[in-house]
Amino acid sequence: MTKKLKIEHYISANPFTDKVIEPEETGLLLANREDEKERIDYVITSASKGFPQNIAILGEIGMGKSSMLNYIQARCQIKTGIYFSRINVTEDTSEEILIKSLVKDLLDQARVGLGSSLIGMVDFGKKRQEKEIDKQIKGINVTKASQKQLGDPLLRIVSVSSQIIEEKGRPEDIFEVIQLLREVMKIIKKDVKTIAVLFDEGGYVAKEKSIALLQRMKLIFQNKPFMLCIGGSPTLFSEYGKIEQTFPNLFLHHNRLSLKPLDKQGIRELIQKRLALVRIKGKDVEPFSEKSIQTILDESSGNPRRIVGIAGYTLYLSRGKYGYIEPVTVLEASDSTLITLGGEAFDRLKKDLHEICLIIGKYPNSTFEQIRKYLSQITKSEISKSTLSPKINELQKLGYIEINQIGREKRCFLKSFLQKYYNQIIRE
Ligand SMILES: Nc1ncnc2c1ncn2[C@@H]1O[C@H](COP(=O)(O)OP(=O)(O)OP(=O)(O)O)[C@@H](O)[C@H]1O
Ligand SMILES: [Mg+2]
Repeated sequence: MTKKLKIEHYISANPFTDKVIEPEETGLLLANREDEKERIDYVITSASKGFPQNIAILGEIGMGKSSMLNYIQARCQIKTGIYFSRINVTEDTSEEILIKSLVKDLLDQARVGLGSSLIGMVDFGKKRQEKEIDKQIKGINVTKASQKQLGDPLLRIVSVSSQIIEEKGRPEDIFEVIQLLREVMKIIKKDVKTIAVLFDEGGYVAKEKSIALLQRMKLIFQNKPFMLCIGGSPTLFSEYGKIEQTFPNLFLHHNRLSLKPLDKQGIRELIQKRLALVRIKGKDVEPFSEKSIQTILDESSGNPRRIVGIAGYTLYLSRGKYGYIEPVTVLEASDSTLITLGGEAFDRLKKDLHEICLIIGKYPNSTFEQIRKYLSQITKSEISKSTLSPKINELQKLGYIEINQIGREKRCFLKSFLQKYYNQIIRE
């Protein structure tokens, strides 16, 4: 049948978009993450019964951390007793953002319909705040007596939040806001078993300047009813450990989920799940041949972002073809896709690691000692072995290089997608 059909005759659109999988799509699109999902379901079920535990999603770039956090969010959404706030961390995430997000999200979910408006009131004078809150409370669907009780804590939330936002707050303020939020929830008869905070890009707060925030977070998340769900790179915990030694203790060993590359079956599943969305009814042909799936595995090393990128471009190149997609087309698509993704990965490295990668790109198969010499030459300063070794190991953990042990010698290579990028920039 495929011989008579062009691929575009049965695949109506290109579903391989490199977007984080949304919470409501996770059931449909996440491939090859059964163990992780099972673990998360178990943790969330316990949390909804009043036993919150912190959980971390660790993985190389593009391995699916944000999508997995969205899966956690989806589970929080369907369980009663769990309230959550999602914070997308950036370089300047501060307590202000943490507080705003908590107040807004928790009140919104409690359906008091006050979340956004309360945050909007922080700039008002006290009189106006009182008036506004009075007005808003009348719209809340609780008894008259409860409405009356709500006034005070809500006004306190606004006033303490404004102090934090104006950076005039005291360290304990954040706890007061949280305490007040719980009081509000109680008055409106919400049974709060767990408050989950979903924190993506956890690496951003692993900076020297965020030590205060980390310490504060530790105080919050070591206690019930809080639960921290954090996403970050495979080196996240060692980075935290350097800044706040005890922070990693918040996460039980078995709640640190390391996302692995997809295997061949996983890639098949990823492709089938996406194509199911755009398949023209009644035409159940799989356009990707077995050999082409194997080629995607070889080229992507199982990294979901690279799989999506390669599969998407391959499908585009094959749109007008008859029959199955063959490995040659995958290879053609993969070349340009990997160069782009390699460049992006290079750009995300810190300067010192970036430099080491350039050296390994130029001299593949180098030993640590050779890299040390080249680096010393380039930087015109003597780099010691004990400074260099941890950095090389970090690059390996982050998924940028491979280290082959041959006898007693360790030799370094860039991962092939990065080597492709390197070869390209040298040519230009
Ligand atoms: N298990 C999976 N099944 C199918 N597609 C996936 C899976 N995991 C991730 N993806 C896809 O891979 C791409 C990268 O996913 P995502 O953005 O979640 O990764 P990430 O680890 O958060 O990346 P980054 O390191 O850039 O933050 C997205 O296109 C996403 O849709
Ligand atoms: Mg992400």
